[in-house]
Order: sequence, then structure tokens, then C-alpha cells
Amino acid sequence: MSLELSVVVLAAGMGTRMKSALPKVMHKVAGKPMVNHVIDAAAKLDAVKTMVVVGPDMPKLVEAVAPHPTFEQTDRLGTAHAVLAAKDGLLGLTGNVLVLYADSPLFTAETLKRLVDAREEGDHSVAVLGFRPDDPTGYGRLVTDAKTGMLTAIVEDKECDDAQRLINFCNSGVMCFRAEDMIATLEAIDNTNAKGEYYLTDAVEVARNNGKSCVAVEVDEAETLGVNSRPQLAAAEAILQDRLRITAMNEGATLIDPASVFLSADTKLGRDVIVEPNVVFGPGVTVGDNTVIKAFSHLESCVVGQGADIGPYARLRPGSEIGDGAKVGNFVEIKKAVIEDGAKVNHLSYIGDARVGAKANIGAGTITCNYDGYRKQHTDIGAGAFIGSNSSLVAPVEIGDGAIVGAGSTVTGKIDKDALVLTRAERTEKPGWAAAFRDKMRALTGKK
Ligand code: UD1
Ligand code: MG
Repeated sequence: MSLELSVVVLAAGMGTRMKSALPKVMHKVAGKPMVNHVIDAAAKLDAVKTMVVVGPDMPKLVEAVAPHPTFEQTDRLGTAHAVLAAKDGLLGLTGNVLVLYADSPLFTAETLKRLVDAREEGDHSVAVLGFRPDDPTGYGRLVTDAKTGMLTAIVEDKECDDAQRLINFCNSGVMCFRAEDMIATLEAIDNTNAKGEYYLTDAVEVARNNGKSCVAVEVDEAETLGVNSRPQLAAAEAILQDRLRITAMNEGATLIDPASVFLSADTKLGRDVIVEPNVVFGPGVTVGDNTVIKAFSHLESCVVGQGADIGPYARLRPGSEIGDGAKVGNFVEIKKAVIEDGAKVNHLSYIGDARVGAKANIGAGTITCNYDGYRKQHTDIGAGAFIGSNSSLVAPVEIGDGAIVGAGSTVTGKIDKDALVLTRAERTEKPGWAAAFRDKMRALTGKK
């Protein structure tokens, strides 16, 4: 690829079969809207301009694709009409223009590059990505010249004659155009066909009639999956998860049971990370080398350092930063908190809006009471501090380095460095009271 590349993403469909208030292409796979998968794949090819064709009244979609410009297609008159909705953005482009469907999130950058390269190589007017499904029904058929193998036409399913219907080489929908020809080609397309639509696929015939060549490039069917329904969304998710798991393993992470680990498109796992079964990585997670994520943990928008020990059953919520060698154990929830190097929060705790200094130890059942019903307040725990089990730290709290909080304390305000704080009620002991109580109750009730 040496010429410039621009991209038009078709995202105008509402996707009625999704039965959703969201535009179809806003539905997520691997934690990212489908439309952004498509845009990000094109970005890997250094696209100079990406334009998105949207339907009327889709503000969330416009926001999700920003800063890329959007063009509204008001009436859905066909795929050629949809691309021409972006005509103002196409004017004056040179090189390649790739047309992608926003509801087809599985095409890889490598595949798109192969298509663009093939177009450039022969300076073809149009290049089309084709695939060979078992059942070609419903797809446009790619008609190729028996001698040269060149693409001569795309015939939509509804327009096929009996012989064409048997062709199993099909249009995936991804097409690459020679930018300089594109507008004239699209404007020559009419809608005299079975559906009364302006078919983008007719561009091949138009180009050929103008003496220009077209080419088809084959792609594996698995990449071509388009999502029209929730079962298809789940199918796309499954394919993407498999790819992400393989990539994570090839980059040096061990997934003990890959099929039970769910990753996001942007999950970053370091080398020699071990992920036990049933772990979910939401968007925005980075895990450093040699860290173990034990079973049934859930992480999102957080950074975990090296050699840390997370879980089992840990929940790391957005804004958590876990330092090198730190431990976050079972039934611990961390939110917007920094757990510094070597600190331990091993059991049954909630730490939110806080800093836990290096090597501090947080006892079982410790809770940061960070919310007063109106405001979130901060808890600061110094390095090497020891917080006894079942303590409630009522923020704002500032605990000095090396301080000790006795178990069961409810603490607020400031505690000096190396101090001990205890807020336990004083102990009362009445010798023999329990036995006397039982004797009395047995006599009263007659129960043994
Ligand atoms: C299209 C292709 C067909 C190909 C198939 C692959 C045409 C004419 N046909 O058929 O050759 O095999 O995809 O899945 O292109 N869209 C708009 N505005 C419109 C019409 C469509 O934005 O006016 C968008 C849709 O939201 C969708 C994409 O374009 O994302 C394809 O449209 P669709 O109606 O699914 O085309 P198919 O009939 O499936
Ligand atoms: Mg379709």
C-alpha cells in the first residue's frame, strides 16, 4: 500500500431485528461498539480520513465515532445511495477508498490491507472481498471471467438467473475503490432492479462498461459475519473472544481454561501472567508481568502491576491501580483506589476512593466508608500501616505511616504516624452469668 487510503463506514441501519433502542452498530463485542471495531481496523492501515454514514437521529452513534465526520442518509435507498451520502467528503480524494459495513466487526486489518494492495497493484477501479459460504443464498454473487479470473459483475441474489444462483463466490460487502473514479461510478448507478435500490455492487458493471478492470480477493468466511440479530451478536463475540484469547496466549499469558476467560478488545496482559478459569476483563485493563489473576475475578478500567496476586473472587472497579507485588484477595472490592507496592488487602474488604501505602496491611472486613449520601471522600493510609480486621474508616481519614488501627475500630479524621488507635468499647465480664441465665430460663420455660 503506497497510495492514500480513505474509508466510508456504512452505519445507517437501525437494525430492527435487534429489538433495541440503540442503533445496531452501537452494540458491543469484546467491550467495544461494533462500529469502533471497524473504524479501528481501518485506522491500523493509516487511513487519512474516515467518514461514517449514519441514519437520522442517532446522536449516540455520532458521539461514539467522533472526531470522525458523519453524514446522514435520510432515506435508505440502497448501499450506493448510502455511500453517496458522504459525497462531500469524497470530493477530491486520491488513492483508495474502502467501503465497510459497521455491522461486520470481524474483518482484520491484514485482510483489508490485502484488498487495498490488490486494487493498487493492478490499478483496478474496484476491488471486492469475496468468500465461499456453504449456502450462498441472500448474498451478491461474484461473477469472474473464466480465462482471466477478473471480476466482471456482482449479481444480487434477487437478480440471479439459474446459473448465477449456483455460484458460491459471494460479496462480503467490503469494497475498495479507485478514489478518482468513485463518484462518477456511483452516480451512474440506477435503481432499476428487483428491490428498486441503488446497489453499490453495480459499480463493477459500470466500471467495466467504462473499460476499467475490477478484481476479487478471497477471505475466510469467519471474518465476514454480519450482525443483524442478538444470536449473531453472540456469534461475533465468540469468534472475537477466541481470537483475543489466542493473541493473549501467544504474547505470553497462560489462560488455564481459555474458554471461560472473557477479554476486551483492549485488554493488555503481560508476560507470564496466569489467568485462572472464569475471569472477566472489562474494557481498559492492563496487567503487568508475572501477576496471577485467580478464578472468578472481575476487572475493569484498572492497572495491575507486576507480580501481583488478585483473587479468587476479587473485583477491581474503574480507577483501581494495584502496585507491584500487591495482594487483593477473596471477596475484596477496590474502586478508584491506589494499592501501592506490596500492600495487602486479603479478605472481605471494600476499598474505595483511597490510597493504601506500600506494604500496608488491611485486615479482613475493613471498609472505607467513602460516601455520606452526598459526597465521596478520600481515605489515605500510609506506608506500612496496619488496619485491624473489621475496621470502618469513615472518610475523610488520614492514617500516618506505620500506624496501627485496632480491630473493630470505627475511625475518622487523622491518625499520627506510628500511633495506635482503638475505638473498641470497654470489655465487661460477669463470671458465671451465662450458666445462671440458662438455669433460670430452663426453670421458667421447662425446656432442656
Ligand atoms: C449487501 C450486498 C451483497 C452482499 C451482502 C453481504 C448490495 C446491494 N448488496 O446485501 O452483495 O453479499 O451485503 O452482507 O450492496 N445500508 C445503508 N443504507 C442503505 C442500505 C444499506 O446504510 O440504504 C447499510 C446497512 O445498514 C448494512 C449494509 O449497508 O450495514 C448492507 O446493507 P444490507 O441491506 O444488509 O445489504 P444486503 O442486502 O445484505
Ligand atoms: Mg445484509
